[in-house]
Order: sequence, then C-alpha cells, then structure tokens
Amino acid sequence: MQTPHSNRKNEHLSLATKLWRDQQTPVIGPSFDDVRWLPSPLKDLAVSEVHPSVQLFDQTFDWPFYIEAMTGGSEATKRVNADLATVARNTGIAMAVGSQSVALKDSQQADSFSVVRKKNPDGFLIANLGADHPIENVKAAVAMIDANAIELHVNLGQEIAMAEGDRAFYWLDNLADVIAKSPVPVIIKEVGFGMGPDLLKQLAELKPAAINLGGANGTSFAQIEQARDRQKENPIDLSAFGLSTVESLLAAEAAGIDTQVIATGGIRSAKDVVTSLMLGAKLTSSAGYFLQTLMAKGQAGLEEEVRLWQQQLPLYMTLLGAKTTADLKKAKRLYSLDLQNSQKQF
Ligand SMILES: Cc1cc2nc3c(=O)[nH]c(=O)nc-3n(C[C@H](O)[C@H](O)[C@H](O)COP(=O)(O)O)c2cc1C
Repeated sequence: MQTPHSNRKNEHLSLATKLWRDQQTPVIGPSFDDVRWLPSPLKDLAVSEVHPSVQLFDQTFDWPFYIEAMTGGSEATKRVNADLATVARNTGIAMAVGSQSVALKDSQQADSFSVVRKKNPDGFLIANLGADHPIENVKAAVAMIDANAIELHVNLGQEIAMAEGDRAFYWLDNLADVIAKSPVPVIIKEVGFGMGPDLLKQLAELKPAAINLGGANGTSFAQIEQARDRQKENPIDLSAFGLSTVESLLAAEAAGIDTQVIATGGIRSAKDVVTSLMLGAKLTSSAGYFLQTLMAKGQAGLEEEVRLWQQQLPLYMTLLGAKTTADLKKAKRLYSLDLQNSQKQF
C-alpha cells in the first residue's frame, strides 16, 4: 500500500537521481578539487604492499568506502535496496539502509529493508533512524536487518527544509540514552549540510562510536524538499546553507575531537575518498553518486564502478607513499585560498 511516508521515499529517490543525472547538485563552499596532492618523497613501496583497509568498531573494513543510507519503505525502493546489497556483497563493501522509521510504523514495509540481509548474509550492514527514536526503536531497526551498526541522523536542515518536516528537536538526551544502551555501535550522521566545530564538539561529548559529518556539495535536501513542495507551503530557502565535506573535515580537525569521523557528501570518485582520508576521515561513504550510477547503468554498472574505485585506491596510495589508509593523513597537500579562508575561521 502506498502511504504518504512511502510516497516521500519514492520522491526522494527519483528527485535525487534526477538532480545527480542533470548535474544540478549545488556547489556550496570549497570542494574536493580545492585540495591538491603534493608529490611525495620516494619510498620503497610496491602497489601490492598497499592496504586500503580500515579498522573501525573492532572490525576490519577491506575498503575505506561504503554505500551510504538512502532507501527502503516502498516496493520500488525494495528493488533498489536489493541491488545495492548485491553490489555490496559482490564487491565486499559495507552498506547502510535508509531511515527505517516507515517500517516501524507499518510492518509491511519491513521487507524493503530486510532484503539487504537476505541478499548479503555476511556483509557489514548499517541500520538507520532519526535522532528522536528511543532505544526500543533502535533495537527493532537493528533486528530488522541484523545490523552491525546503526546510524542516527541529525537532519535539522532537512526537517526545516521539508514542508511537512518536524518543528521540535529534543534530541540530545535521547542520543545519549541510545548511545549508552545500543546493542551495536552508534554513528551520528548529518545528511548533506555538514558540521562545524561547535556541533562536532557537542556530538563528540555524547561518545558515539563515530560521527558522519555528511557535508554539502553532493545530494542537497534543500533542493529536493523545495522541488517536493509544489504548493510552496514552506517559506524557507536553504539552498546555500551548510559546510562542504572538505570544510567539515577541517572543522573536525580544528575541534580537536577524538571521535572517529566518517566523510560523506559529494564523494564521486576514489580520488575524493583519498582526499577525505588525507583530511582525517577514518572511513568514507557515497550515496547520490552510487544511486545515479545504479539508475543509469544498472547493478552491473554500479559494480563495475565500485571495482574501478577498488583498483584505483592502491595506485593513488602508492603515489602518495601511503602503505595504509592511516598513512594518508601524513601526505602533504595544498589548500586553495577558499579552503584556507574557511579553515582560518574555524
Ligand atoms: C535518495 C536519498 C535518500 C536518503 N535517505 C536518507 C535516510 O533515510 N537517512 C539518512 O540518514 N540519510 C539519507 N540520505 C542522505 C545520505 O545518506 C547522505 O548523507 C547524503 O546524500 C550526502 O551524500 P551524497 O552527496 O553522497 O549523496 C539520503 C540520500 C539520498 C540520495
């Protein structure tokens, strides 16, 4: 059955795909191209010795990127989740599902999420809910896909941009409670507006397992929600609001937090993954670009793209003299004036 909630999920999917396809994602602040890699001193190193793996949550991730939270909650999105999970399984990368709140309200939608576990029985799968969900819901979402971790989105910008979005945000105490009681590691995440130093410090105090700073320059929920608001009910314009992913990474450095950071937002290539790791991300993920690739080229096409990134990563790391992903943090880089300007203000 098509509920307004399921309908919203379908609209998010089709609008995000269209905006990526037409290259209409907005440019907000400095992007990955504002970081240039400096040729590094020679090292005794072979590509075959390079390990693009990451240790996080007491796990080894073979690859430093995963498919970020997008969908579930309708028949159409179930097929997308099945395809994404198949790609994740075949390429050995992790994957997050979209917000499961729709399935907590309507159990008929649960299989549009649990399909990912069916398709990928042994993979690292990440559940997803909003920051207002109590621990009982978190446990139910984790159980629904037998998740290895859960993301809780702090999507203030998206809610404000959404005509029918929430207008009251009492999240902090709940986040603290969920982090203390969750059966799996909790990642607090933005959805594309980025995070500044003060927000990062505040969230780090809650001691989540990781923070995903979900920066701008990729999928824009300001744009998506504006397009959905056909009656022009919402008087707000957030199209230029937010910090880009590279800015958010420098904000995390300035904040001096010891929480592990995940970079998402506008990641379109293995080069963007490398730059994010250089700037301090432990892990990275990509949503809209992978979605658009899936829609344009099908499951085989997305799989090919993921394998291309996997082929490129050890080559880029060797170029930068980095045997491990942690070594990338030491790689020298140049920042554009724009990016230096943002950095000075953090
Ligand atoms: C179609 C679509 C649906 C999304 N739904 C969710 C969601 O339910 N929960 C969530 O935490 N993030 C959601 N996101 C946000 C992504 O996880 C990610 O943070 C954001 O798109 C920025 O990454 P990108 O520029 O690589 O797309 C969604 C993104 C897209 C494209």
